[in-house]
Amino acid sequence: GEIPVITIDGPTASGKGTLAAQVAARLGWHQLDSGLLYRATALAALRQGVAADDEAALARVAAGLKLRFDGERVLLAGADGQADDVAAELRQEHVGSMASRIAAFGAVRAALEALQLGFRALPGLVADGRDMGTVIFPQAPLKLFLTASAAMRAERRHKQLISKGISANLADLRADLEARDERDRNRAVAPLKPAQDALLLDNSGLSIEDSVQQVLAWWAERT
Ligand code: C5P
Repeated sequence: GEIPVITIDGPTASGKGTLAAQVAARLGWHQLDSGLLYRATALAALRQGVAADDEAALARVAAGLKLRFDGERVLLAGADGQADDVAAELRQEHVGSMASRIAAFGAVRAALEALQLGFRALPGLVADGRDMGTVIFPQAPLKLFLTASAAMRAERRHKQLISKGISANLADLRADLEARDERDRNRAVAPLKPAQDALLLDNSGLSIEDSVQQVLAWWAERT
């Protein structure tokens, strides 16, 4: 039979990652954090000194990405084959911002497509990002579009960073995430938008557990 996929798309810091991880854990499924692949490409490009506007070179970086996941660790290998744990670095705002810039290029997106499809494995996959339901897994039986107010999202991102010992300014964070969303929504290729058949979930007033239960209930209705 088909390997089931649940897609969770939405703007920056809407809680997609946390929700996807929880739902995947409850179902015992695999998880794809697609934003991490764009972030890793951005970081590799920064390290290699590739310009943010060189689409062909950025696509080569994406196609040659050497990433390995080991529990909480994300190992990125350089041209010399030496790998280091970049999990913390990938979360930095300047990497996210570069990721959003390079994600606007069709050649970069195409280079990352096969890698993303490869995460689909039994017994199922929960995939989160911007175009999981619209482009990468359009046949997914359950597609969600997660939203929350910009103020709420900035506050969550702020808390997240502070808890990791990374200093951050709330107003700057909000401006940065709004700029990122603007770019993600208005790009020509795979813009951030709900799939036609996506269910909308505004989690502004919901706890993480409430959101998880809602998704599991929607999934139960489909099986
Ligand atoms: O979700 P996250 O903040 O990690 O994603 C970083 C950037 O990668 C986003 O701002 C977006 O531009 C890009 N992205 C994308 N498509 C995805 C996932 C992320 O364009 N499926």
